[in-house]
Amino acid sequence: MPPHRVYIESHLGGGAILRSKKPAPISYAIDADPRVIGNFRQNHSSLAEYQEMDAVEFLKAYQFSGDELVYSDPPYPKSTRLKQKIYRCEYEDADHEELLETLISLPCQVMVSSYENTLYSSMLKGWNEVKFPNKTQTGIRIESLWTNYPKPKEVHDTRYLGGTFRERQTIRRKQERLRNKISALPTYERQALFEWISEAY
Ligand SMILES: C[S@@+](CC[C@H](N)C(=O)[O-])C[C@H]1O[C@@H](n2cnc3c(N)ncnc32)[C@H](O)[C@@H]1O
Repeated sequence: MPPHRVYIESHLGGGAILRSKKPAPISYAIDADPRVIGNFRQNHSSLAEYQEMDAVEFLKAYQFSGDELVYSDPPYPKSTRLKQKIYRCEYEDADHEELLETLISLPCQVMVSSYENTLYSSMLKGWNEVKFPNKTQTGIRIESLWTNYPKPKEVHDTRYLGGTFRERQTIRRKQERLRNKISALPTYERQALFEWISEAY
């Protein structure tokens, strides 16, 4: 995720991302299902401002200033389903098209996830697409993440650096060695290092 001031999660569900990411100064979480919103208002009241409404309705009414990150994880298109009907609130093809048209028109950073499917890849042509295997109840499936921005140089949350388990482990160990070295420096040497870091970066 690139840095952002406002985070908008348009299809909250179990809220796996909202609950795992570093909070933004302002967060909105939307779901059409009253039970989803009721559960979050009870158990995670401080994480976001919750809205029980249609995602497109929220996005069309919201006054964007450009420093938002919108994340949409809508119900999966029926063509990708192994089992039919999973959520109480469902999406038909026309709903997917309306959502994607709305997301394409937003003046801010947007990420969308779904299983690989032709409707999304044709409507989001030109967007950056990252594919990754996801463990589900029915086995490993390939999930796609589309973003309307290129791979960011800086990230919102540095706790998940690295593309694979091994990479994340290597980065964590490298960071730990650096922290130990810096902690062991005499104070004035650390001060010199800080001065150099703040000038150079
Ligand atoms: C794929 S799930 C989201 C899963 C979520 N990312 C998680 O971590 O559990 C899709 C969610 O979209 C919600 N939904 C369905 N139609 C909606 C609509 N029109 N507007 C907003 N949310 C909707 C469903 O209630 C469901 O909770």
